[in-house]
Amino acid sequence: MTQSKSTNITWHEGTVSSDERHKNLNQKGVTLWMTGLSGSGKSTVAVALEQVLLQRGKHAYRLDGDNIRHGLNKNLGFSPEDRAENIRRIGEVSKLFADAGIITIASFISPYASDRDTVRKLHSDATIPYLEIFVDCSLEEAEKRDPKGLYKKARAGEIKGFTGIDAPYEAPQKPELHLRTDQFSIAESVQAILDLLDTHSLLSA
Ligand code: ADX
Repeated sequence: MTQSKSTNITWHEGTVSSDERHKNLNQKGVTLWMTGLSGSGKSTVAVALEQVLLQRGKHAYRLDGDNIRHGLNKNLGFSPEDRAENIRRIGEVSKLFADAGIITIASFISPYASDRDTVRKLHSDATIPYLEIFVDCSLEEAEKRDPKGLYKKARAGEIKGFTGIDAPYEAPQKPELHLRTDQFSIAESVQAILDLLDTHSLLSA
């Protein structure tokens, strides 16, 4: 739990309700939290999903690990503490986007269950929909794909604390969706997420 250093602050309630925002957008806000190994397909599926949603006139936005670490979280590394802070900040940002009515696609390795649980609670406390998607492929498969050549470097000892090699990945126990990207095509994965959104009645106001 991050201690608050802010004192003498007051919460200001607005007058625009979530319902009004949803009606304006003809959708409900949600955080789709995609977790999985580097190379599991999180970003690939997220990019394809965002494209399909936009084609359907829906408002979606992607928050991606590598991208966010170029800006907002550029001061964080890959120690367990820094990963926790990475996920905490993105959890807060995702919650704001989702509260604004956006279908927020957050794709981060987020290897620690406790960090993911914190984000889930952040959303449930605010009654903002949160759906966890386990983007799953075997380590062997991720290593075979190695799109950024990082597993090779990690095996050679050039990167320390690499997830799956010498840092842990705690697989979700009860994700809302379990995508096996070594068995599903990208299109099938996207469809499974659309079905999930539909099941939760999030694609209309
Ligand atoms: S997380 O663990 O804090 O959730 P995040 O999703 O933001 O990670 O960033 C992961 C990306 O950082 C990977 O896809 C990879 O490109 C890069 N990366 C660099 N070093 C590491 C490392 N030690 N472990 C995992 N990913 C790393």
